[in-house]
Amino acid sequence: MTAPHRRPLIAGNWKMNMLLKDSVDLVRKILDGLSSPPAEVIVAPPFTALTVVSELLKDGRVRLAAQDMHWEASGAFTGEVSGPMLKDAGCQAVILGHSERRRYFGDTETTVNKKLRAALAHKLVPIVCIGETLEEREAQRTFRVLETQIKGALAGFAPADLASVVIAYEPVWAIGTGKTATPDQAQEAHLFVRKQVAGLYGDGLAQGMRILYGGSVTPENVDTLMSQPDVDGALVGGASLKAAGFLRIIHFQTPVRN
Ligand code: PGA
Repeated sequence: MTAPHRRPLIAGNWKMNMLLKDSVDLVRKILDGLSSPPAEVIVAPPFTALTVVSELLKDGRVRLAAQDMHWEASGAFTGEVSGPMLKDAGCQAVILGHSERRRYFGDTETTVNKKLRAALAHKLVPIVCIGETLEEREAQRTFRVLETQIKGALAGFAPADLASVVIAYEPVWAIGTGKTATPDQAQEAHLFVRKQVAGLYGDGLAQGMRILYGGSVTPENVDTLMSQPDVDGALVGGASLKAAGFLRIIHFQTPVRN
């Protein structure tokens, strides 16, 4: 179970799914089923559904995130969406550097770093995704990859700037594959990430930073994942698209410790 000073966070990444009607349906069902969850809850609909969903989230029990953003505030960047636009649409958070963005749309350490700077400037809580591919894991390069991604994303900040940052450890081989990292694998990676952050920015920041696990999180495996001391929440893709399953994930259960 996460340390008491880190509030668990469960975020649903809808990816390129859900038309407006489906978005409204899903959010209504999530709100109906919430009963003092042990976690802060975020949903990340596609850009087109942000304003509609934002209207439903006015009471603040569930917060709104976008799935990406551009680093400039405005200008000639066809197809892009900026921080001020996300704020205007009602977002409080933004996912950055998701492996699908890195793999298909050219996100790099440098662009993730620029996006992070913009997210912080516009007071959006950044959820920065990192994670190794299967090839990298099999070549024993997991830690090296995570180190490079963390250093790259977080470069050039002072510790105080990064207080709101959330990291999502998402092994690429576990995303959408049904192949979840074991709780031990997740814990090992999360502890490594925390130590890296501590080395770069000090233990104070590292101990307060929330590190989410992502990659085939389901109602069946969330409890054991969340019982790991350095797993502070989950970034959930497929299983966040159905209210019942997502609600079960939000209301995860971990053994009570004395
Ligand atoms: P998944 O996706 O839960 O469908 O594996 C997680 C993610 O990509 O954030």
